[in-house]
Amino acid sequence: MTTLFSEAHQRERIPAEIHASADAACRGLAAEIAALIRERAAQGRHVVLGLATGSTPVRLYRELIRLHREDGLSFRNVLTFNLDEYHGLSREHPESYWRFMHEQLFNHIDVSAENIHVPDGTVPRAEAFARCRAYEEKIRAAGGLDLQILGIGRTGHIGFNEPGSGRDSRTRLVTLDALTRRDAARDFLGEANVPRHAITMGVGTILDARKIVLLAWGEAKARVIAQAVEGAPVESLPASFLQGHPDVRFLLDPAAGSELTRIKHPWLVGPVEWTPALARRAVTWLSLEVGRPVLKLLDEHYGEHGMADLLTEQGPAYNLNIRIFNEVQHTITGWPGGKPNADDTHRPERASPHPKRVIVFSPEPSDEMLGMGGTLSRLVEQGHAVTVVYLTSGNLAVPDEEAAVAADLVLDFVNGSAGAAATPARNVRAALAAKLTDPQASDTPDTRRLKGLLRRGEARAALRLAGLSEEAGRFLDLPFYENGRYRQFRAGPADIAAVAGLLAGIKPHQILATGEGQDPSSVGAVCFEVLRAALAGFASEPWRADCRVWLYRTPDKAWAAHEIDMAVPLSPAQLARKVQVVYQHKSQRSQTPAAGPGLNEAWQQAEAAARDLAATYDALGLAEYEAIEAFRRWLG
Ligand code: F6R
Repeated sequence: MTTLFSEAHQRERIPAEIHASADAACRGLAAEIAALIRERAAQGRHVVLGLATGSTPVRLYRELIRLHREDGLSFRNVLTFNLDEYHGLSREHPESYWRFMHEQLFNHIDVSAENIHVPDGTVPRAEAFARCRAYEEKIRAAGGLDLQILGIGRTGHIGFNEPGSGRDSRTRLVTLDALTRRDAARDFLGEANVPRHAITMGVGTILDARKIVLLAWGEAKARVIAQAVEGAPVESLPASFLQGHPDVRFLLDPAAGSELTRIKHPWLVGPVEWTPALARRAVTWLSLEVGRPVLKLLDEHYGEHGMADLLTEQGPAYNLNIRIFNEVQHTITGWPGGKPNADDTHRPERASPHPKRVIVFSPEPSDEMLGMGGTLSRLVEQGHAVTVVYLTSGNLAVPDEEAAVAADLVLDFVNGSAGAAATPARNVRAALAAKLTDPQASDTPDTRRLKGLLRRGEARAALRLAGLSEEAGRFLDLPFYENGRYRQFRAGPADIAAVAGLLAGIKPHQILATGEGQDPSSVGAVCFEVLRAALAGFASEPWRADCRVWLYRTPDKAWAAHEIDMAVPLSPAQLARKVQVVYQHKSQRSQTPAAGPGLNEAWQQAEAAARDLAATYDALGLAEYEAIEAFRRWLG
């Protein structure tokens, strides 16, 4: 954890703690909550907790459950008030926050049912105002909130206080922001099913809590966190109103804290130790900031951007520019598996052995093609033995319509036969028909299987087009995904054993993987943790010492120039092929034509990300390529 209130924190208007991981942060907070509950219990008093839903607090709730089970922590003296609830959902609805809280916490601890409060999503509109006031009244009657736990939405919302919510807003019925509804689309199995309204405590209600702790994990939250912590308090970012609170703090993981100035541009907030990595970060930033290629940066550019001491230590600009230019230049290679018989002193990957055994891990089918489809083709063309490992089936992301088409196809193919061959397809058809009246019903095992097979078919088509044989694809269908649901995935020994078995069989020289730094509840992040755990088991094996691990990114969060250790350029033809390969994942395309302009489709985003990176290298003054895919070396 970082020290608070040093010079580096001068821009921060809310204390922000960066913890080693979401789990570490939650362990600390759960211990704090447990201490408060016990202290009050000893005084014969109760504790009033304000609680949040979503993926963010799940780890906190798991830890509280553990403390209840293993440490005897009792919640008998606890009253809870939840922040919000979707309007129009009954308690039993799979996505209702009432149900979420019971499944994730209340059912596993000894809190009394009468002490639990969640806004009622079924209240008629005409009664909403009165019921919201009554909710506030209940909080007041309980003595006010002792501690409010918050997550944060990408819009900067707290509770469901979307941009435009006033500082003094109270509990009320609100309309959800389009981005918030899009973020919830996956949970509701389609954006059309996401409610348009919700009941939420107001910003003013939240600010009345005596203590507030906001949690955020993963890089997707980094920008909004930096704005809330460092920007002015504004209605367009309701979380920024927390700045006025006397006892508030943010608990972050490193990815969520990565956009804070002290992390991103530490030289702007005080003296720094100019390590080679920091110098590269600063110089590439400076070049993009002033809009001049690295080799054309002048002493005054450094001086005007808080980097005078870098010049004093390592300058003049001329020397520094050349050094950093060369470093970035050396990240570029058309030989991602190493260039055989070449001097590899300045190449990202070793020349030998050649060919290499390479494993590409893809959390869900298509991630690998989105992030590194061009590089994958190059590795194959350059003679490496490439295995693509699909960690999960990806069946949760297949729309029902696609499964219905596949089931019909099977039925027609077996010609309506009454035989056993047609039974699963017929079952799927019946299950999907039932879902038409109940869109939130979970898929049956047969439907999940069919959906998974559909994605396998798409993955194989993509592999063929990328120049790989079908046998190069291995499908692990990890159990955490088959048995879980979005936001609540939890990997276990069976997942790690499956990946470890595969690693032991192949003993790769090179691994390419993704998911590090993502929201820890996401499929990508859970997969990365499984890989990390599996690799840890081989720490003393010679093949592990000889194996390099490279991280790639899916298009939603590309590497910044300074983070890149290997940049693989793509020609126009290679980029076109990459797009075509991604296009094979038909079930992942939008189900409705895009409304208005924008990069709505995955292949568009993949193309744009690869082009953008090439434009960045060009802007830094390096060669001008059509597109680039990038990798960062993972040192574990
Ligand atoms: C949930 C809530 C929301 C979430 C926010 C982040 O009760 O009020 O503000 O905290 O949308 O959601 P997750 O945690 O799913 O990223």
